[in-house]
Amino acid sequence: MTSRREFLRLGAAVGASAFIPKVPFLGRARKILVLGGTSFIGPHQVQYALDRGHEITLFNRGRTNADLFPGVEKLIGDRNGQLDALRGRRWDVVIDNSATDPEWVRQSAALLKDTVDRYFYVSSRSAYRHFREIPMTADAPTFTFESTGVDPSTPGNRLPYGLAKAESERAALAHFGDRAVIIRPGLIIGPRDETDRFTYWPVRIHRGGEVLAPGDGTDGVQIIDARDLSEWMVRLAEADTTGTFNAVGPAWGRSFAEFLHGIRAVTTAETRFVWADTDFLLAQGVRPYTDLPVWMPARDDNAGFARFDLSPEVEAGLTFRPLAETAADTLEYHFSRPPERQAALRAGMKEEREAEILAAWRASKGG
Ligand SMILES: NC(=O)c1ccc[n+]([C@@H]2O[C@H](COP(=O)([O-])OP(=O)(O)OC[C@H]3O[C@@H](n4cnc5c(N)ncnc54)[C@H](OP(=O)(O)O)[C@@H]3O)[C@@H](O)[C@H]2O)c1
Repeated sequence: MTSRREFLRLGAAVGASAFIPKVPFLGRARKILVLGGTSFIGPHQVQYALDRGHEITLFNRGRTNADLFPGVEKLIGDRNGQLDALRGRRWDVVIDNSATDPEWVRQSAALLKDTVDRYFYVSSRSAYRHFREIPMTADAPTFTFESTGVDPSTPGNRLPYGLAKAESERAALAHFGDRAVIIRPGLIIGPRDETDRFTYWPVRIHRGGEVLAPGDGTDGVQIIDARDLSEWMVRLAEADTTGTFNAVGPAWGRSFAEFLHGIRAVTTAETRFVWADTDFLLAQGVRPYTDLPVWMPARDDNAGFARFDLSPEVEAGLTFRPLAETAADTLEYHFSRPPERQAALRAGMKEEREAEILAAWRASKGG
């Protein structure tokens, strides 16, 4: 039998996760340009790539977390037309994290297409027109000007987010063709996330008491830990893999009940979930994904929202940390923030509103 000491030693040997061994990269080191790199997913990509021996250059305005990675080359510019620092340089790979305006992708892809081998564009699950298909795959239709009825002369920075991401993909593909890699993440979660959409749940569950839980627990959840996403992108670059991929998980799916109970497993709080019917919540004006983040009722256009078939992604090396690890690390990150930031979560329901809905739900059940 493995002793506790041996278990800990084995755990330490494989790195942060006891389940995903960290395999060293023995191939050719890549020169990687990251457009952005200093906010949420960027730092995870950069640290992982450095740990694996790659050479990194960052391009940004020097405003966000400018003190990160002091030893890394930093080029200053602006995606709004100030790309001079990129001219005349050669990289193996560019990772475009920062574009939500197709014009930004058009400019950087046009400039880099002859001096960079591969262009990674971080798109979004929001690029899909709907989630009616089960399972969802990367072939599902994405937004177009036609499908949205948006005037094509609309400036890129005024486009609806999903259309902007879909058009940005097209801009990358127009210049890089089969040398482009399009990644469509769902909700990105974990340490460094400042949107608090996932964070709401571990924090709420950690507070204990009766927690408003949406639906009957069977709605699906597919999300992605920022580190799983970032590390996979670096490994795709190492393997010279190209194509269009989704980035959500886990591949085997997870129900909302498993999601909430999985998070509760990392806290010591006394929590009881009170499952309130979807139609009741909608009638109370509760907005899925906004008031109760992560939750998307699996119906109509969203039937396939958390029903992605991830076989191609898993074959291409995407791995999934245990939810417990993401939840524990997110709580640790949250409690490392200043008290005023901890008290001002940017997503989810306020305590009083949750209490009101719980009381109304009890009343509707006659008690
Ligand atoms: N969060 C989610 O759940 C989610 C889900 C799906 C997809 N996505 C997509 O994932 C990506 C996440 O990006 P991230 O913020 O984590 O990436 P990041 O690379 O960590 O940070 C964004 C970078 O962009 C730079 N930047 C911002 N405006 C710029 C400008 N005008 N010119 C040059 N650089 C600029 C920022 O630095 P400076 O401020 O110093 O310039 C920062 O380094 C986004 O494309 C988002 O649409 C997010």
